[in-house]
Amino acid sequence: MSITSFSLSATDGKARTGVIRTPRGEIRTPAFMPVGTAATVKAMLPEQVRATGADILLGNTYHLMLRPGAERIAKLGGLHRFMNWDLPILTDSGGFQVMSLASLRKLTEEGVTFASHVDGSRHMLSPERSMEIQKLLGSDIVMAFDECPALPADRARIEHSMHLSMRWAQRSRDAFGDRPGHMLFGIQQGGLEQDLRGQSAEALRAIGFDGYAIGGLAVGEGQEAMFACLDHAPDQLPTDKPRYLMGVGKPDDIVGAVKRGIDMMDCVLPTRSGRTGQAFTRHGVVNIKNARHADDPRPLDASCTCPACTGYSRAYLHHVFRAHEMISGMLLTAHNLHYFQQIMEGMRVAIAAGQFEAWETAFHAGRAEGDI
Ligand code: GUN
Ligand code: ZN
Repeated sequence: MSITSFSLSATDGKARTGVIRTPRGEIRTPAFMPVGTAATVKAMLPEQVRATGADILLGNTYHLMLRPGAERIAKLGGLHRFMNWDLPILTDSGGFQVMSLASLRKLTEEGVTFASHVDGSRHMLSPERSMEIQKLLGSDIVMAFDECPALPADRARIEHSMHLSMRWAQRSRDAFGDRPGHMLFGIQQGGLEQDLRGQSAEALRAIGFDGYAIGGLAVGEGQEAMFACLDHAPDQLPTDKPRYLMGVGKPDDIVGAVKRGIDMMDCVLPTRSGRTGQAFTRHGVVNIKNARHADDPRPLDASCTCPACTGYSRAYLHHVFRAHEMISGMLLTAHNLHYFQQIMEGMRVAIAAGQFEAWETAFHAGRAEGDI
């Protein structure tokens, strides 16, 4: 018997609910993973992140290898100890972040060399080095090392890149080896080309992973194109393994992805927006910097049980945002993460009850298009 597992407890249409079991804890799916790029979920204590309902965090190989360094974190007892989060952590493998953040990139069959966005120092990532770093960090869910062209890209570029990522997926599998208690996920690529997505899924299934991610989406193609891709991509992956849509998304993206068979997601949106004065609520988006909140005694969302909504008015949140007080980012991040986790909990309960469609209708009915 493996000490990690994934079991589905109910499906409703293509939507699924279940649990991933790891030695560090259970991950209820569909799951939203807050992003803790630099060994912190910005503006939040770990216990506050947990209180929002998160079962797992995402960390980044790219950022942590540059600062403070993977070997240093390993010497200090690993990433969980370092950041005081003892529940599961998933780490992204670094290639995607190199492509968007680093400069002087040189991509070869072997891997990628690049200059750090922090201090310009030169570094190398390959499937083997990425697996080594994620092991040093002590990540519970390790992502295969992949590459993803910026869209729009022509088909030849997407095809070549997908095949390279599949060769890297095999090398990631070989380098990861056998690590009881830890899971390795493959990443499907292929842009918006359904046949390339199919070939990629086939290659990953032949290698064999503990879970399968869908990469290369939410990179500027728009929701309609992303959903069109998700109408097929999850079906190409194994039914009995978790499916993770990387880097998604807005609340309606998340709901649409779960409807199409996605089990896990991550996005900087709730945390980053929290620091720029944007709150997501059941009724739509609140831009707290807007002057019309200056005298408003109401909470962000009267039905929300988060610390921001139970203790503070919109007027206060407006004031601390305008005054650049740190509590502004703290409260709005807590609210946004709480709201995202409420969506996930709502979907898990609805799927288990066979009521996903009714839940989705109610979700959309309560929402305004513009600011509220
Ligand atoms: N985050 C968002 N999209 C991707 C992707 O395609 N690959 C990786 N590794 N991370 C991502
Ligand atoms: Zn709230």
